Amino acid sequence: MKKTSPKRSAELACTERSRSIEARNRRILIIHGPNLNLLGKREPEIYGKFSLEDINKEIKKLAKEKKVAVDILQSNHEGEIVDAIGSSSKKYSAIVINPAAYTHTSVAIRDAVSAIDVPVVEVHLSNIYHREEFRQKSLIAGVATGQISGFGANSYLLGFLAAVELINK
Ligand code: DQA
Repeated sequence: MKKTSPKRSAELACTERSRSIEARNRRILIIHGPNLNLLGKREPEIYGKFSLEDINKEIKKLAKEKKVAVDILQSNHEGEIVDAIGSSSKKYSAIVINPAAYTHTSVAIRDAVSAIDVPVVEVHLSNIYHREEFRQKSLIAGVATGQISGFGANSYLLGFLAAVELINK
C-alpha cells in the first residue's frame, strides 16, 4: 500500500479539522419544551392539528435545503433543557427554542441562555401576547437574540431561517 507522506498526512488532518469546525459552525439545536410532545392532541384549536413529528420533518427538510445540520430535543424537564443549553457552545452555532410553559416561569433557562455565546431564537406557535395575561410575559425574550410568535408551525421554520441567517452572517 502506498504510504502517505508526513506533509500529506498533516494536510489531511487539517482538512478534517476544518471540516469538523465547519460542521460545528453549521449545526443548529432545536429545543421543544414541555407538553409539545402532545401536539396534535393538545388544544388543537390553539396549537394546530399537526404533530411534533410533522414539525420536525419540515425542519429537517429546510435544514437540508440550507445545508445546515440539525439536532432536535424535546424535553418536559427544566434541568434537561438547562443542561442542553449550557453545553451547546462546543457543538452548535445557534439554538431555536420553544420553551413552552417554561417561557413564563424559568429563571434557570433564562440564565442558561444568558450564560452562552450561542445566539438563541425563541419561537411560539401561538401569539403569546394575544393570550392570558400570565403568558404575555416571556422571561427568555430579554436575553434571546429575537422572538417569533403566533405563526403556528411556521414559527419554527421562520425561527430556523433566522438562525441560518445568523450563522451565515
Ligand atoms: C407556547 C405558548 C406557551 O404559553 C405554552 O405554555 C406552550 C406553548 C406556544 O408555542 O404557543 O406550551 O410556547
